[in-house]
Amino acid sequence: MILVTGGAGFIGANFVLEWLRSCDEPIVNADKLTYAGNLRTLQSLEHDSRHVFARVDICDRQALDALFAVHRPRAVLHFAAESHVDRSIHGPGEFLQTNVVGTFTLLDAARAYWNELPAAQKESFRFLHVSTDEVFGSLQSADPAFNERTPYAPNSPYSASKAASDHFVRAYHHTYGLPTLTTNCSNNYGPYQFPEKLIPLSITHALAGKQLPVYGDGKNMRDWLYVGDHCSALRTVVERGVPGETYNIGGWNEKANIDVVHTLCDVLDELRPTASGASYRKQIEFVKDRPGHDRRYAIDATRIGSELGWRPAETFDTGLRKTIQWYLNNTAWVEGVTSGDYRNWIDMQYGHSR
Ligand code: NAD
Ligand code: TYD
Repeated sequence: MILVTGGAGFIGANFVLEWLRSCDEPIVNADKLTYAGNLRTLQSLEHDSRHVFARVDICDRQALDALFAVHRPRAVLHFAAESHVDRSIHGPGEFLQTNVVGTFTLLDAARAYWNELPAAQKESFRFLHVSTDEVFGSLQSADPAFNERTPYAPNSPYSASKAASDHFVRAYHHTYGLPTLTTNCSNNYGPYQFPEKLIPLSITHALAGKQLPVYGDGKNMRDWLYVGDHCSALRTVVERGVPGETYNIGGWNEKANIDVVHTLCDVLDELRPTASGASYRKQIEFVKDRPGHDRRYAIDATRIGSELGWRPAETFDTGLRKTIQWYLNNTAWVEGVTSGDYRNWIDMQYGHSR
């Protein structure tokens, strides 16, 4: 049995679905079900006894202790977090609570459980902390990509909270010997991503005839990885990673935001032409920049390739096409998540007329 936190969110749910497609080891999935958590994503597992869902806040120590005692996992994969930079700018408190206090509470519950395990199980236990490249801060155009020795320099409340959680994970290994692993991954995209992040927001807005908001000059660079490739990297790290180490995960796919939106419009023009025949590119609007907007992220994924043998399977073109096709085929899922709360967020962030 493995324990997954945040397995009703975008990456966690993709991980759970793929895990149970490829093996029979059960999962206990602990998720608070915030606005970003969605059980509809896990509907195919409704009657699957290999998946046990528990509505649990990772800040709730008692609930976590009970999960460890009942399910006795051999590994923890910790996805649960507040994950959207723009929301962290409007309300940083929740990020401190879940990402820092929650990770600390989970680490401490895991340590108490791990301490009591028999020697062989203690040795093989793993705590994998899923983190982000944003902890490394912002690169200039000529800088080398982030590697595992790049100093931390977080700039947003989101990245600061993730950086703090990474430090606690490091400290729990160094101080108590808890067999931790940390991964720092670049921007993900793929099925089941909540439509507040750039790619799903652009797809859903394009199809609804709304503006495609591009912040600032559109030249900020992100390094994109298809979510299925992130999940395969996490499986590799949990099975073969060295405790106490960190691994950067990326797809070698650096793109300027405006190029991402252009490509997305071109694929949509081909797969779902507009009634008027006009390109979706016409809906692009440059809008006010995000405060403190990091200019460039880029991941050097050499280590996970050379030491653990992982490689991404998708290119940006194949992954984006799959993603767009998924959103075209799954309009009911999108309608289900774009509730009143979602509309309030879009109104606050982009203005009522959009
Ligand atoms: P998400 O926002 O889609 O999902 C987060 C999940 O965590 C949701 O199901 C939510 O209900 C749950 N959650 C939030 N607070 C909780 C709490 N207090 N207790 C229990 N559950 C709680 O996020 P995501 O995009 O799937 O990201 C997952 C992890 O991967 C995060 O740790 C994030 O920092 C990291 N990451 C994300 C990306 C990306 O591009 N999305 C890239 C690198 C790393
Ligand atoms: P996002 O998907 O929010 O991920 P992150 O901020 O974690 O990298 O944003 C990706 C990039 O796209 C980032 O540079 C901000 C930009 N962006 C826009 O230009 N418009 C938007 O509406 C959003 C949500 C993001």
